[in-house]
Amino acid sequence: MRIVRGEMAERETGGGDASIQTTPGEEALRIALEPLTYGEAPRILILGDTRCGKTEIAKRIVAAYLVAEPRGIVIVGDDKNPRQPQFSGQYYTNPDEIAKRPPRKEPRVIVCRGNQTEITGGSNAELYESIARYQWKLTAEGPDGRPSLAVYDELDRAAAGQQWQVNPSAIGWTYGKGGGVGAGSVALTQETEGVPREPFNQATCIIVVRMMGNPVRLLVKRGYTISRRPDGSLDQRGAARIIESLPGTELPPNQRGYFVVLQRGIPFNGKVYRFDSRRVVAVK
Ligand SMILES: Nc1ncnc2c1ncn2[C@@H]1O[C@H](COP(=O)(O)OP(=O)(O)O)[C@@H](O)[C@H]1O
Ligand SMILES: [Mg+2]
Repeated sequence: MRIVRGEMAERETGGGDASIQTTPGEEALRIALEPLTYGEAPRILILGDTRCGKTEIAKRIVAAYLVAEPRGIVIVGDDKNPRQPQFSGQYYTNPDEIAKRPPRKEPRVIVCRGNQTEITGGSNAELYESIARYQWKLTAEGPDGRPSLAVYDELDRAAAGQQWQVNPSAIGWTYGKGGGVGAGSVALTQETEGVPREPFNQATCIIVVRMMGNPVRLLVKRGYTISRRPDGSLDQRGAARIIESLPGTELPPNQRGYFVVLQRGIPFNGKVYRFDSRRVVAVK
């Protein structure tokens, strides 16, 4: 990555013209969904400050998954806003309702809106856990099982202080064991320090939008930020500086969405990705 100094300064003072060299986000999708090419389900974690583009990235992952996995079904936990769903698809309260009202064949996206008549949106932890349990049922469907991808738009509602609210957690199970049985996961949160052990340790990749301070140190501690210097030596904090310098909420919303992709055990590739909003493909 290259940051042009003068323009960086302009951005920091709110100039809003980020001049970071970016790679098309589609290339990051190939890394994120690579496990599918060897018959495993991806387990993805998306971290970083609020309003910096996590949900937008998740929508692109959903669209790409549907293409890459023609038999796959996506189940989204989207109960954040009672008035406006963030994801498009076939709307349900929770997975229990699917048996009573089977979905149409397409779109293969089930959006679980929770119980919107309650001020808390019902129990978020229970909604999310029921999605993972539904995936477990899908693994037993038909001769080969049905591949699936769960999307948890706000993981911090199902977990706090690195503990699941429900124990044992079906979400934890899918992060640990879902890869081999076609049960993939995508969890999003701005509360990096609240993420339980399984998503952190079992994620096939971690996608990070802008964040600072302690959450970045946690990624360093867990070995996700290592990069290789030109002389071949390893830099433990290689990706950390870039994560902290990514543009975020100082830009207008339609200019946000900068992110990096981290994989434990693989040195950071130095790339900053972004989806060009003019290439947006809606999930229909
Ligand atoms: N690549 C992008 N192109 C255009 N708009 C974007 C992009 N990434 C994010 N945004 C916009 O920025 C705002 C915040 O993004 P969102 O994904 O909701 O953030 P988060 O989920 O991290 O809180 C939204 O209005 C979204 O449409
Ligand atoms: Mg979001």
